[in-house]
This record gives sequence, C-alpha cells and structure tokens, in this order.
Amino acid sequence: MSKEILYSATKPTGKLTLGNYIGAIKNWQEMQENYDCIFGIADLHSLTIDIDSKELTDNTYSQFATFLAAGLDPDKSIIYCQSHVKEHSELAWIMNCNTYFGEASRMTQFKDANAKNKNISVGLFAYPMLMSADILLYNTKVVPVGVDQMQHVEICRDIASRFNSKYGETFVLPKGVISKTGAKIYGLLNPTKKMAKSGDNDNDVIYLDDDNDTIMRKFKRAVTDSLNRIKFCDEQPGVSNLLTIYSAMKKVTIEQAEKDFEGCGYGDLKVKTAQAVIDVIGPIRDKMQELKNNRSYLDELMQKGAERASKIAKETLEKVYKKIGLVTPLSK
Ligand code: TYM
Repeated sequence: MSKEILYSATKPTGKLTLGNYIGAIKNWQEMQENYDCIFGIADLHSLTIDIDSKELTDNTYSQFATFLAAGLDPDKSIIYCQSHVKEHSELAWIMNCNTYFGEASRMTQFKDANAKNKNISVGLFAYPMLMSADILLYNTKVVPVGVDQMQHVEICRDIASRFNSKYGETFVLPKGVISKTGAKIYGLLNPTKKMAKSGDNDNDVIYLDDDNDTIMRKFKRAVTDSLNRIKFCDEQPGVSNLLTIYSAMKKVTIEQAEKDFEGCGYGDLKVKTAQAVIDVIGPIRDKMQELKNNRSYLDELMQKGAERASKIAKETLEKVYKKIGLVTPLSK
C-alpha cells in the first residue's frame, strides 16, 4: 500500500439507510482514488445489541452487496467482514485494558443507550474499543464517518497516543473526517433526529432497498413547516434536511439547491428530492438485489478481502504483543 490508508465500516444491525449512503458509502466511493481503502462490515459490533441470527446473516450479505453495487471496487480496495479477521477481537482486548472506565463511560452513544434500556451488554460499553482496534490494526490515517461516530474516532486517537507514550511509537494516529454536506441526515418525519437503521417508524427512514414508489411516498409525507419558503436554516429542520439530501444526490452546493427551488412550493421540493434519490439509489438497489442472492460469489470476495486484511492485521498485532511484553510462542 503506497497512499495514505483510509478505513471505515458499517455495522449490519439493520438495512442500510439513505443516511448511511450519504454520510458514508457515497464518500468512500469517491475517496477510493486518493487513498488505499479498507472497508469493513462490522459484524462483531452488531452483537452489542440483541439481534436475530438470520437477520444478521442476511444483513451482512446485503451490506456487502450494497458496497459493491455502490461502486466500492474489490480490486482497488480491501472489502471484508470484521469477524473473518480474528485480530480485531484480540486487539480489542488490548484496547480494553488501555482505556479508562471513565473515558469509555463518557461516550454519548453508550450514555444514550444506557439511559433508554435496562439491560445493555458489556459489549456495548466496549464498542469504541473494538472500533479502535478496527482502525489501528491497519495503520489508518483517515476515517471518514458521519457526525455520530466522530467521538469514537477521537477516543481511538486518545487510546493510541497514550499507548504510544507508554510503549513507544506503535500506532499511526488516525483522523476522523466528516463530509461537508450530509454528515448527519435526519428522519423524514422527525427532522431533528438522525435517520437510523433502528428507527421506530419505517416512514421516517429511506432504506437502500426501498422501491421507487415507496421512496416517493415517504418523501411526500416528509415533515416541513408552515413558513412557506425554501431556505437552509435552523428554524426549518425538515426543509433543510430535504435540501441536504437533494444537494448530495445532485452533487450541488446547498446554495445551488436553494436556487433550484426558487419560486417552488414544498410539494415540488419533496417530489424533486424524491426523484433525485430514485435516480441515484434506484440503480444501486437493483444491482444489490441481483448480487445479494449470489452468496457463493460474495463468499469468494469476502474471503479474498479477509486474506488481504489479515496480512496487515497480523503484523500490527505481533508488534503490539511484543511491545507490551507478551511472550511469543515457539510456533511463530
Ligand atoms: P453504522 O452502520 O451505524 O454507520 C455507518 C456510517 O454511516 C454513518 N451514518 C450517517 N451519516 C449521516 N447521517 C445519518 N443519518 C447516518 N447514519 C449513519 C455513520 O456515522 C457511519 O460513518 N460504529 C460504526 C461502524 C464501525 C466503524 C469502525 C466506522 C465499526 N468499526 C471503524 C469507522 C471505523 C457505525 O456506527 O456504523
């Protein structure tokens, strides 16, 4: 690998959403030219919540198929499944032992889940340490994520830099990167809350496998307001969200998006945004549907990706074990 290394992942806890596409996958596709990229399906992270086994398997294949359909290129980039590279779990333990309970307790994602649910797992608490292992195993420089994951990239950087001071230069310090537009896509019915895989209401979320009629119907129901103007501003979260989606799909600035809607009503805004989404997501969805049932083809690609990832991960883990003084077994 000769360029700077870029790492990112999605977790297969549900179907991918338009938020995942705009906040992550679309940017990854564009960044493939400028970085040596590694893209993971973070299946081990999915186990931090209660998830049905069949659903986990289906989601894993669908997400892998979506990556390919969206233009992630397995010849250019390493695309693999996290659990296929055992070093993730092993380095995660080292991360756990080098993270303070207090700093992990301050993670917003953990605090929110803890406030909402009675029985959360220890795994959910350790989520950022597994994520740190993902990033650090590959000498990653750049981690493109949506706003919600930035705190996890920052804790990863803190753990890595503390480790380096204690044991000597070991890890490359990664930097989180957030895209200018679309770093947080909000729900269509609830435009002050993140559009999420685990949303309570399906009409709030555009899934990447929604058919064209469903996409149009959901956008037509999107919440706007009664101000009757199309402007990107805090007072108009619904309208601003639609403008963000439109600008990401059309690859235009927000200012241009506002201009495109001069003199238009909210009906136009909703329909034209829906159409822009259909134009981009439609072909990806159709390709994904075709690929996702060809499991032997996906298995082969996953294996190739895991072999390439393992080579790098093994080297890093060996270096880490040596630094911390674990005795190397004779077999190595
Ligand atoms: P996941 O699957 O929840 O999210 C994957 C990516 O999509 C972004 N995202 C969004 N961006 C904009 N608007 C939204 N509504 C929206 N919803 C999700 C997330 O910020 C993320 O970039 N913990 C990661 C998976 C992971 C990972 C990693 C990421 C595991 N290991 C190492 C980077 C590096 C996650 O939340 O996945």
